[in-house]
Amino acid sequence: MKLLVTGGAGFIGTNFIRTVFDKKPGWEVVNLDLLTYAGNPRNLLDIESEHPDRYRFVQGDIKDSELLHNLFKTEKFEAVVHFAAESHVDRSIYGPGAFIETNIVGTYQLLEAARSYWESSSERPNFKFLHVSTDEVYGSLGPEGYFKETTPYDPSSPYSASKAGSDHLAKAYYRTYGFPAVITNCSNNYGPYQFPEKLIPLMILNIQEEKPLPVYGDGKNVRDWLFVRDHCDALLTVLTEGQNGETYNIGGGEEMRNIDVVNLLCSLLDAKLGRQGETSSSRLIHFVKDRPGHDRRYAIDSTKIRSELGWTPQHDFKTALAKTVDWYFENQDWVESIRTGEYLKWIDQNYDERA
Ligand code: NAD
Ligand code: TYD
Repeated sequence: MKLLVTGGAGFIGTNFIRTVFDKKPGWEVVNLDLLTYAGNPRNLLDIESEHPDRYRFVQGDIKDSELLHNLFKTEKFEAVVHFAAESHVDRSIYGPGAFIETNIVGTYQLLEAARSYWESSSERPNFKFLHVSTDEVYGSLGPEGYFKETTPYDPSSPYSASKAGSDHLAKAYYRTYGFPAVITNCSNNYGPYQFPEKLIPLMILNIQEEKPLPVYGDGKNVRDWLFVRDHCDALLTVLTEGQNGETYNIGGGEEMRNIDVVNLLCSLLDAKLGRQGETSSSRLIHFVKDRPGHDRRYAIDSTKIRSELGWTPQHDFKTALAKTVDWYFENQDWVESIRTGEYLKWIDQNYDERA
């Protein structure tokens, strides 16, 4: 199998490529990534040097139609796994433009290049286009109920609206052209290599450095957490077993309120850092101004992928969260490498206004 992975230098893309090299001997990967602030070329240096015949990195933009057409022509991919996106809700509130450009226009350009290659390919290989998306397209749940594949789209943020637009395009390409697209909508991921603008790595680093822990609103918003490697296994399953034109919801079934996640992180880090009582990290928790349009609850019904494709998550939240904390402790050089001027600027912009 020869794969085009877009956005493979980001959080989930990196973990996905690592999963491919762990589990699929012989598969080849071309990783196309623009290396925005969220992409880190260091993430896969070991794979690059150990497997020069099976892994290639291309720095480029999914909006670059000429580059895409040339890549398909020369590499003759058998499948695409499309991660590349602007992915942070708070950034989409400050500046929606990049989200429209990358997530909608970029996905359109990628679909067009892939369709043109697929239509002109004489053998019509068992080509597949896996569009990786989010449960946020479904909007917000009350205390009851779950997102099913049939739940109507109702996005709240420019991020989720732009992902919804890209999902609709992928589905329309299947219905209109018979293009072999399959879509996954996954809940919140956590694990190694996540950029520390997202809740869990941000809190780990702030606890370590005894900085304030900014909890939005009342801290009672609920997310359904999934360890990133379980998501990657689900994606491999959908890639090899999923039906074209179908959507598969992926979730861990581990619902947690944000405040409970932060308290759990405090206790995990307190145990490592020898803090207790008055020095306990929970003293650093600050409730700050809420995110506008903040979805109250996400929860996934993943019956379809479990029953039809046989996938189940292998990690429970508490154990894999502890593993994630260990990873950030053991990879301080990675953390330092992404704490560039741009990252620090974002932290000032987002959190000064909320204080
Ligand atoms: P990320 O922000 O960590 O990584 C995105 C990657 O895309 C980066 O490497 C970036 O350089 C690259 N990129 C951005 N614009 C590009 C462009 N124009 N051309 C080429 N590359 C570009 O994101 P992530 O958390 O790894 O998410 C990956 C995908 O999974 C996204 O599509 C996201 O919507 C989806 N998703 C994420 C989660 C989550 O919890 N993080 C959950 C469900 C779905
Ligand atoms: P985030 O990691 O940004 O993921 P998403 O918005 O895609 O769910 O946020 C997870 C939850 O944590 C969300 O309810 C917002 C909240 N949050 C905070 O309370 N404080 C923070 O500093 C951040 C980044 C998020």
